[in-house]
Amino acid sequence: MTSVPDAVRISAPAKINLFLHVGDRRPDGYHALESLVVFAGAGDTLTFADADELVLSIDGPFAGALKVDADNLVTRAARALAAHANVRKGARMTLTKNLPVASGIGGGSADAAAALRGLARLWDMDVSREQLRKIGETLGSDIPVCVDSTPAWMEGRGENVTPLDDIPAVAMVLVNPGVAVPTGKVFAALCARRGVGHGRPPFMANAFDLAAYLDKTANDLEAPARAVAPVIGEVLDALAAQPGALLSRMSGSGATCFSLFADSAGAAHAAADLREDHPNWWIAETQTATQI
Ligand code: C5P
Repeated sequence: MTSVPDAVRISAPAKINLFLHVGDRRPDGYHALESLVVFAGAGDTLTFADADELVLSIDGPFAGALKVDADNLVTRAARALAAHANVRKGARMTLTKNLPVASGIGGGSADAAAALRGLARLWDMDVSREQLRKIGETLGSDIPVCVDSTPAWMEGRGENVTPLDDIPAVAMVLVNPGVAVPTGKVFAALCARRGVGHGRPPFMANAFDLAAYLDKTANDLEAPARAVAPVIGEVLDALAAQPGALLSRMSGSGATCFSLFADSAGAAHAAADLREDHPNWWIAETQTATQI
């Protein structure tokens, strides 16, 4: 018999779109996408404890950027999960917000997905990952891929997720210049796009193979995001100028950008250098994770 925990702690790792190609706008208003997604060691954390009501509190370095209200994605995910299984339990939920908000690394989506995983455990629910992905999909396009938070091939509007188990783990630096970029606004500014159908990656042994594969891809949202927030261009230039940066690109709809490095020493060196030149930017050296 497995025991039911009275408190659960869950990580909500940052989601990185190593590339993101945009296809046609669909009848439902969303765009078809194709993306290779990985997750970073850096992330938010959430805890869930027994309570009569659903109560959320937020702490951590970026807590001030979020409102604690019924619209918070964590609370909405909790309500959706409870409704799905007709559960009438509450939970005391604490979100430690380490990631910048509205930043293209899925912070809100990762938090919502972590709430689905954490509450399913706290409430001892018999619910599959597939069911959690379906519930997540009703709340946001990026939530399904965050349910497992492992490397994945993403299609559809984001909800078609295929796990990829042979993507090499790589060292990475993430940089956010402190400008929140709303996803809808970036899609609205989209002009050129590569379309979907690039195809899944071949076997890749290391960071060099990965960078060579990614070199033939792009983030179609980079140009419109730069139009919305020109500082993204400055971030990309600063990242690409770092010795050892194998590939520099924006994630999601921005403004967070990343560089891949052959090893963690190179990433640490670049992060230290960037912090010195840009003390107001959020900068994290991390490793992509293959499992959480
Ligand atoms: O699904 P999510 O709430 O994250 O999407 C935010 C906005 O981004 C949508 O309202 C839509 O304007 C745009 N979007 C899109 N195509 C997608 C995902 C998002 O046009 N595949």
